[in-house]
Amino acid sequence: MTTFTATAHTNIALIKYWGKSAVRLNLPATGSLSLTLDRFYTTTSVEFIDSPSDVFSLNGLAGDAATQKRVLEHIQIFRDLSGRTEKVSVCSVNHVNTNSGLASSASGFAALSLALTHAFALKIDNTQLSRLARQGSGSAARSIFKGLVLMHGGPQATHESAFAEPINSAFNDTLRMIVLECSQSEKTIGSREGMSTTSQNSIFYQAFLHNHPLLLKHALNAIIEKDFNTLGQCMEQSTMQMHATMLGCSKPFWYFNPTTLLAINEVRSLRERGYQCYFTMDAGPHVKVLCQRHEVSGIANTLSEINGVSNTTVCTPGPGAFLHGA
Ligand code: PMV
Repeated sequence: MTTFTATAHTNIALIKYWGKSAVRLNLPATGSLSLTLDRFYTTTSVEFIDSPSDVFSLNGLAGDAATQKRVLEHIQIFRDLSGRTEKVSVCSVNHVNTNSGLASSASGFAALSLALTHAFALKIDNTQLSRLARQGSGSAARSIFKGLVLMHGGPQATHESAFAEPINSAFNDTLRMIVLECSQSEKTIGSREGMSTTSQNSIFYQAFLHNHPLLLKHALNAIIEKDFNTLGQCMEQSTMQMHATMLGCSKPFWYFNPTTLLAINEVRSLRERGYQCYFTMDAGPHVKVLCQRHEVSGIANTLSEINGVSNTTVCTPGPGAFLHGA
């Protein structure tokens, strides 16, 4: 029996997408900019089975009903495109330090999409692959590519226009991201639920949508100009504007915990001491710190001492999704 195995690495958005312009096709309401990391990844194997239904396991377990449903729907997209009818067994393994929620759906749906593409023998390029990965998870479209990645989105986004592409930049050698795990427990509000609640009833959401295209433009320009500090400042504005939308809901919520705030403060104090480093947070309490190769060990040593930080992982820009044995 032939097995199709693919690996994809997770990515962290420097400029965030938060909210969808169309839920069914999972079209992002804003464009985004990310960095694929070398340390957190998912490996997924697909093989055909003689069974009335598809089978999915994550880390050897069936997982929750919502994840099962999402994965099975994703498999169906590829089967429909191929015109075939056979069922498949999908085994996914997340490679992370702990079970603290850092293995985002990005690496999972990117690896799954690549393995399914080959299993169902679809003749598509990486642009089309990223569109299909997006239908599983918005950020998965970016994990198809290595290093810095631009994802297209916006209020007028369509299935055709909402894809990711790699950015060719000298920063792909010199950027570093330090991941600070600020909690050992699983996140309570997933990004899907968080962005849906926010986009429906935050009084700040329209301001987020209005400002993000400009922030993305400034960040892309900073990459062209090799201006690390402007890129870092745009990154901090993006994460804080995203998190501010949650505070503007009728039932406000937040992902930060006390360790998150300690880490943010330490990043600012490192900056006052002359280091160039900037923070970002996603739909969870962990803090990711962007810096450059020549300063990374000094910054990581200081941040690893923060009370409550259980793991400090230094990441370099990581590879795009790849098929094993190809
Ligand atoms: O990939 P999703 O649909 O789970 O959403 C990811 C959302 C953020 O991580 C908060 C932002 C981003 O652009 O990655």
